[in-house]
Amino acid sequence: MPSPPRVYDVVILGAGAAGLMCAAVAAQRGRRVVLLDHNAQPGRKILISGGGRCNFTNIHCTPDRFLSANPHFAKSALALYTPQHFLELVNRYRIPWHEKTLGQLFCDHSSRAILDMLLAECERGRTDIVLNARNIQVDRSSDGYHVSSLAGDFAAHALVIATGGLSIPKLGATGLAYDLARQFGLRIIEPRPALVPLVLGGDEARWTELTGVSTEVVAWSGPAQGRRPAPRFREKMLLTHRGLSGPAILQASSYWRPDEPVHVDLAPALAPGTKLIQPLLRPRARRDETSFRQALRAALPQRLANHLADIAAPAGWSNAALDTAECNLRDWQFHPVGTEGFEKAEVTAGGINTDDLNTRTMEARSVPGIFVIGEAVDVTGHLGGFNFQWAWASAVAAGNAL
Ligand code: FDA
Repeated sequence: MPSPPRVYDVVILGAGAAGLMCAAVAAQRGRRVVLLDHNAQPGRKILISGGGRCNFTNIHCTPDRFLSANPHFAKSALALYTPQHFLELVNRYRIPWHEKTLGQLFCDHSSRAILDMLLAECERGRTDIVLNARNIQVDRSSDGYHVSSLAGDFAAHALVIATGGLSIPKLGATGLAYDLARQFGLRIIEPRPALVPLVLGGDEARWTELTGVSTEVVAWSGPAQGRRPAPRFREKMLLTHRGLSGPAILQASSYWRPDEPVHVDLAPALAPGTKLIQPLLRPRARRDETSFRQALRAALPQRLANHLADIAAPAGWSNAALDTAECNLRDWQFHPVGTEGFEKAEVTAGGINTDDLNTRTMEARSVPGIFVIGEAVDVTGHLGGFNFQWAWASAVAAGNAL
């Protein structure tokens, strides 16, 4: 005879950033919580995040740093649990940290400190953590939720889905959150790779000859005007053996859609009113390929300048032709043939439709007792600590409602 399920108040699926935080909050409020994960260790993404130093939040955490079909959904949770709240927790554990750039807070030493802190918070609430819980299946009955797995069976009145998105399958990412959403009638915004390198093909494949070149740019993709113009990102672009990467491109990739261009201003550091081709505009200046190349070499990395001199020379040397060349360089349009996919994407955009969730509690509107938090939800942050802040904030919202 199968043994009866272990009974809890809450079963949380996924011991990542959101699941651990939610477990800690709910358990410290007196709930009996079990946290299940199919991996052999919790928080694997936390450990590798931020190059091993975990960019655990960003002090400039405003709602416009997040993508979602409903840009208002995340506001409530983000306002109730702010970067300052998480920082207080970090400080309580005496974890040394620093601001690297643009409000991004990193551990001084290792991401392990953040994971250990979350595990200690779970321990304070006596959360049970069950690892290697593979083959998770969920059934609903009048008593609540029954969760079976290879590590045992569990029953509870509340079920939290915190199994993340599809990014980096080798770290344990699966589509379980979406499968459960379909099972319980929650809608899904098509998941897509975000914060991901872009692949160049066709004539643009020649850019890969510049592999290793890194330069500051402003990059953007999506509508330049309108109600929600695409944000512009002034950071580094890196040429890779497959195409484009670096923080500016990763940021723009979250807004990129197939068949749309990615726009790049290749010389954002020039003083306002100054042009790349300025030297050619001086009285009696030479106007030929050599002077054009020299002008580019004066402002850009040499390999990039040489490449552009080969492919972006003006069609003639009139002022109008030079102006057109200048405009092209300040709004260079790449036409990526794709992304490097979920294997390389730092996050998954899209996910469980926020219209089906309560904005304050993350509970499913039509399925009482099911909560969805973290990356599984259609809320995706910019690069720079925003995705963890969403994981913490959505987890606290649910944890306080359980
Ligand atoms: P997360 O993916 O953390 O956790 C989901 C958990 O569910 C995992 O433990 C997984 O094993 C488990 N799971 C999945 N499927 C399951 C199944 N079928 N059965 C059982 N368990 C299952 N963000 C940021 O703000 N700052 C940063 O520095 C970084 N750095 C970074 C680096 C890299 C390389 C990546 C890939 C990502 C980042 N991120 C980041 C993004 C950040 O890691 C991410 O947004 C959060 O971890 C999301 O937290 P969740 O808890 O929602 O999912």
